[in-house]
Amino acid sequence: MADEEIIITRNATEALNIAIQGYPFKAGDEVLLNQLDYFSMIETFQMLEKRGQLTVKAFDMPLLPTTEEEIVEVYKQQLTPKTKVILLTHVSNINGLIVPVAKIAAMARQRGIDIICDSAHALGHIPFSLPDLGAAYVGLNLHKWIGNPVGAGVLYIKKENIATTKALFGDVAAADADIRKLAHFGTTPFAVVMTIPDSLAFHQMLGINKIAARLHYLKNHWVQALLQQPGVEVVTPAAPQLSGAIAAFRIIGSTATQTADLLYTQHNIMTVGRTLGPQGCVRVTPSIFNSIDDCKKLVAAVKQIAGS
Ligand SMILES: Cc1ncc(COP(=O)(O)O)c(C=O)c1O
Repeated sequence: MADEEIIITRNATEALNIAIQGYPFKAGDEVLLNQLDYFSMIETFQMLEKRGQLTVKAFDMPLLPTTEEEIVEVYKQQLTPKTKVILLTHVSNINGLIVPVAKIAAMARQRGIDIICDSAHALGHIPFSLPDLGAAYVGLNLHKWIGNPVGAGVLYIKKENIATTKALFGDVAAADADIRKLAHFGTTPFAVVMTIPDSLAFHQMLGINKIAARLHYLKNHWVQALLQQPGVEVVTPAAPQLSGAIAAFRIIGSTATQTADLLYTQHNIMTVGRTLGPQGCVRVTPSIFNSIDDCKKLVAAVKQIAGS
């Protein structure tokens, strides 16, 4: 990976809009996505579909795959001769599912299909290297798991895809193959950009492998404790290659919003309700500073709510 494949944006939404709206789609090209993808990327594709620029093909991703190969196969089964791009959400913001981006990209590449990868929740959370993902485009942000002040994201574009990417913001000065043609978005929050080296240095001091192991340990604790709990349905596979810190559950018979409200108002535990089918799901996101005692508190609270 080289500097010429990266631009700093203001967030992941901006990075991914530059990628999605700049991709050289032809009418009739299909984009494959599913219910675990992030709503604004889905809406960007739907907007382009309304404008007649592409066709969106949405499918339902199984919530509890057991292996990475099973996920690759699910995507493979959905491909048609018209599939041009697959949107991959590296770590779902809904149930935390990690998709095997590199394996899906390898399968797609043999068929001339590009990956636009939304890694907003992956950077600083799970180990990966951008070039090894094999995606044509990757959008990231620095304010989630890197902990940088809000206002900085990153767009990575594989060198060979830069020339064919159309600029979203007007620029006729930069060469076609120069990624800076895509970075003409006016005054940027440069004070925030100046904080990036320190944020990355702090993160590197902790080390991504230690961070990922700690996050998995915390997630695994509460997930294992609730897996056999009557009235509770965990909707995230627990294996470390299929989820990191984030996992989700539902209490049968309650909406996600009701459960998240009770956890907050009665137990002082912050979770979030997310849209997932008619009932939704409650997303739980421990960070490295949470403790096993926090996880035990969550388990006790969920058991109490499910039993009442
Ligand atoms: C999976 C995913 N993609 C994209 C975004 C958007 O990120 P940003 O706020 O940096 O635009 C989010 C934000 O929550 C997200 O969870």
